[in-house]
Amino acid sequence: MNYRHSFHAGNFADVVKHVVLARILAYLGQKDAPFRVLDTHAGAGLYDLQGEDARRTGEWEAGIGAVLRAEFSPAVRELLAPWRALVAEFNPPGAGTDDAHPLGRYPGSPLIAQALTRPQDRLLFCETEPGVRRALEEAVGRDARAKVLPMDAWQALGAHLPPKERRGLVLIDPPFEQPGEFHRMAEGLENAHKRFATGIYALWYPIKDVRAVDAFRRELERAHIPKTLNIQFDIRSVRQADTLSGCGMVVVNPPFTLADELRTVLSALAPVLASDGVGRVRLSWLIPER
Ligand SMILES: C[S@@+](CC[C@H](N)C(=O)[O-])C[C@H]1O[C@@H](n2cnc3c(N)ncnc32)[C@H](O)[C@@H]1O
Repeated sequence: MNYRHSFHAGNFADVVKHVVLARILAYLGQKDAPFRVLDTHAGAGLYDLQGEDARRTGEWEAGIGAVLRAEFSPAVRELLAPWRALVAEFNPPGAGTDDAHPLGRYPGSPLIAQALTRPQDRLLFCETEPGVRRALEEAVGRDARAKVLPMDAWQALGAHLPPKERRGLVLIDPPFEQPGEFHRMAEGLENAHKRFATGIYALWYPIKDVRAVDAFRRELERAHIPKTLNIQFDIRSVRQADTLSGCGMVVVNPPFTLADELRTVLSALAPVLASDGVGRVRLSWLIPER
């Protein structure tokens, strides 16, 4: 496997995914009842933005780097606050606001989940690459609530669902380096939903091969899972074939507040993250409520 998330950490796609993740976790945390997070493709947890990999692509500069320098309305600032506070925690005060104070580290999905959950919640992180998994174990540290598993993501959906809490979030974030990943993800969701129909599922995908994205959408429509929300975030107003033009997220059983929150926050992020300074955000129900 060649994929290394350390090249891409903190880029526009991570920002979109992590903002969605943080909003869902903020909602789940409003009720005292415990919940579980299953992060099927967890990655290393914490990324060094001044390290060789991140410096080679510099992708984070147009992602989290641009966000930290942008001005937002109070409503948008409030929606971004839990995630931004966490990024700040991993960096010295003022980091990322100007060239003299570079951003050093960026937390990935497991550390976001760890920070935005309570003592009664539980966390499962799957990562199959041994070196990445060791880094993840170190980043997660001693936390009795969390388990790092060497388990394949697609097997974990069968083995660990439904969670005993009967409440929770499943984040599915594959590297998309192998053919058939869109189909595996749609099939994985369908099987997981049969086991745990009330869970919240958040699936990330790249918008690069537009035909593959369309086929994925049609497959999800055929699966007919109620309350399936599709979010598309383009960093160019005109898509270019075989170029990463944006990313999407499918959220099943989204909190009732999520679509409105994302319209507000992602519309504000689009011009900041877009390579053409405009970008585009679309939210649509693939399958609405029954
Ligand atoms: C896109 S990265 C994850 C980024 C992370 N979710 C985040 O937002 O910070 C995908 C990760 O999945 C791991 N991976 C690839 N195939 C896997 C599989 N079948 N099961 C579990 N992990 C896998 C890769 O090693 C890589 O670290």
